[in-house]
Amino acid sequence: MQPLPTKSAPVSLSEDPVADLQELIEKISPDKIFLLTDEHTHEHCLPIIEDLPGLSTDRIIKITAGDDHKHLDALASVWQFLSAGGASRHSLLINLGGGMPCDLGGFAAASYKRGIPFINLPTTLLSMVDASVGGKTGINFNGFKNEIGAFRIADMVLIHTPFLNTLDRENLLSGYAEMLKHALIDKPETLEKLLDIDPSAISADKLAGLVAESVLVKDRYVESDPLEGGIRKALNLGHTIGHAFESLAMKQGKPVLHGYAVAWGIIPELKLAVTKQGFSKDISEKVESYIDELYGVHSFTNDDSDNLYQLMQHDKKNRGNRINFTLLSRVGEPVIDVDCSREEIEAVISSQ
Ligand code: GLY
Repeated sequence: MQPLPTKSAPVSLSEDPVADLQELIEKISPDKIFLLTDEHTHEHCLPIIEDLPGLSTDRIIKITAGDDHKHLDALASVWQFLSAGGASRHSLLINLGGGMPCDLGGFAAASYKRGIPFINLPTTLLSMVDASVGGKTGINFNGFKNEIGAFRIADMVLIHTPFLNTLDRENLLSGYAEMLKHALIDKPETLEKLLDIDPSAISADKLAGLVAESVLVKDRYVESDPLEGGIRKALNLGHTIGHAFESLAMKQGKPVLHGYAVAWGIIPELKLAVTKQGFSKDISEKVESYIDELYGVHSFTNDDSDNLYQLMQHDKKNRGNRINFTLLSRVGEPVIDVDCSREEIEAVISSQ
């Protein structure tokens, strides 16, 4: 186990997840161990840890994969499984998966008997650099992303980067979008380093070496503001419009991966940053062409603007009727709570 110098929560790189989990389990000393998987991690990742001593097959929960299944029924099925399996407040839940099992499993652990210990074992790039770290847990509700949830820091996040080899290119790119976001709120050198990576050279091996650095960017913001009263909102760059894209795509029955929606959301939000905060047009255009090359262009049109605007009105950063954006004045200098009008928002979406 190689602990990262995080301050907001314990995060370690792990070459041998079974040995490291064993060590953690000795410390936590749970009465029972439960493991949450989804269909994908059950098939592709569970074999790597199924020899974990103390883990019995009847305590392995499998839920349907995909963010469109991050809903109340799936959460209730996890509560039901824990309850039927006799989980106590001293039982441990291990979440093996991407953003969906980490978010949903984290909330199940945060809420079951008012909270049980949990370990995140992220298996996707997105969950390694973002979802598993920082204590946001929850589910989608009523058509809105992460509408119900709680802040609860995992007892440990154990990052085993060889899991990245189980991902297809789309899922690698989905996580890479959050790394681009972290680079934009970190510093120019970090952004340059990512933009210098040739899109055709993006691979699990290449990105594995950049995971720790990206986690440390997130950690810095979470440590300063764990409950997102202020500067943690920087981590939402690209997400005000990105979440609206993602929710609308889900409503239209053609779900897109979270990172694709975030990448598509970064472009108009950088354009807002150019007009409202004096952000560099050159950098905005450079990022835009990099994102276009990697993620293609989204399929939303002017006909979607009412729906997108309504979805943005539910963004958790809003106050009253104002839609509050996180923008940038420079790379590494986020400006939070920037109120943008409907006209300003529609102008940057339609210019894509
Ligand atoms: N994913 C953004 C945050 O954790 O604050």
